Amino acid sequence: MENKIKEITGAKYAVAIANGTAALHILLLAAGIKPGDEVITQSLSFMATAAAIAHANGTPVFVDVDADTLGMSPKSLEHFLSEYAEVIDGECRNKKAGKVIKAVIPMHTFGHPVRINEIKNLCEAYSLMLIEDSAESLGTTYQGKHTGTFGLAGISSFNGNKTVTTGGGGMVITDDESLASKIKYLSTTAKRPHKWEFYHDEVGYNLRMPSINAAIGLAQLEYFAKTLENKRETAHLYQQFFDSMHIRFITEPDNARSNYWLNAILFDDRKQRDAFLEYSNDNGVQTRPAWTLLHTLPPYRHCQHTETPNAEYIADRLVNIPSSVRV
Ligand SMILES: Cc1ncc(COP(=O)(O)O)c(C=O)c1O
Repeated sequence: MENKIKEITGAKYAVAIANGTAALHILLLAAGIKPGDEVITQSLSFMATAAAIAHANGTPVFVDVDADTLGMSPKSLEHFLSEYAEVIDGECRNKKAGKVIKAVIPMHTFGHPVRINEIKNLCEAYSLMLIEDSAESLGTTYQGKHTGTFGLAGISSFNGNKTVTTGGGGMVITDDESLASKIKYLSTTAKRPHKWEFYHDEVGYNLRMPSINAAIGLAQLEYFAKTLENKRETAHLYQQFFDSMHIRFITEPDNARSNYWLNAILFDDRKQRDAFLEYSNDNGVQTRPAWTLLHTLPPYRHCQHTETPNAEYIADRLVNIPSSVRV
């Protein structure tokens, strides 16, 4: 399964992990996130993005998203960094919090790529690691390059609701050989290779993806290209329909080829959104709102965040509509 993911993404290394959250957690540990280090991510994301930072004993900082891509806004990130960050001897520090800022984690929301080049440039200017939460975007490319391969590393999720599922599963992808072997080592009990000796020279984790799950994933990856085609066709049909209804349907950005993991529409306001959620769910059609913004949730309320007008706009109006593969 690792080889197949390398083939699809173009990454040099892939390490299979028990789930996407654990993949992000162990990646952050292996990348050198130390207790108290700050990691910048977007407020509109699934809770796992922030939870993985917290599991690694890091502190999340939240910035806004772009209204069109639904992913991290380079403008909001730049605004935060220019106001609070200073680079001294190659280390980025938050002048307000007095902490080290180590990494930036943009998330490719619902499978649509963020403005990754602008984010990458900012990471380089401020000596920050770029780690992509590409949990939702297997098969999505931006300017012909697969999401998750623009920075130090990316992750995939093979949770039950994903485009490819192993029941539960995840993967780290990277071009960095030493990072990949550190992740493999940490996720498989931190055992030094030996024919019979059990010698663990760090606190290890048992986070390897079980082979049985990988076998299920591999079978699905055989027809992955067809799955993507099918999902893109569904998106196209939705787009035609919602255009005729004058309802905004979220489409892939320019220069992108999205997997359309979850299709989404935007209502005029929260009242309309709620009426639609109520009606569709009462009538046997499962629909769901966007996630509650992370910086407003109890575990993260104390965390630094920028203004989030776009995330708030989207959270008030967005609904995900059925997106399974049509048979
Ligand atoms: C953005 C994002 N990050 C991380 C995860 C975590 O993946 P998993 O559910 O496999 O732990 C998910 C999805 O489930 C996700 O949507």
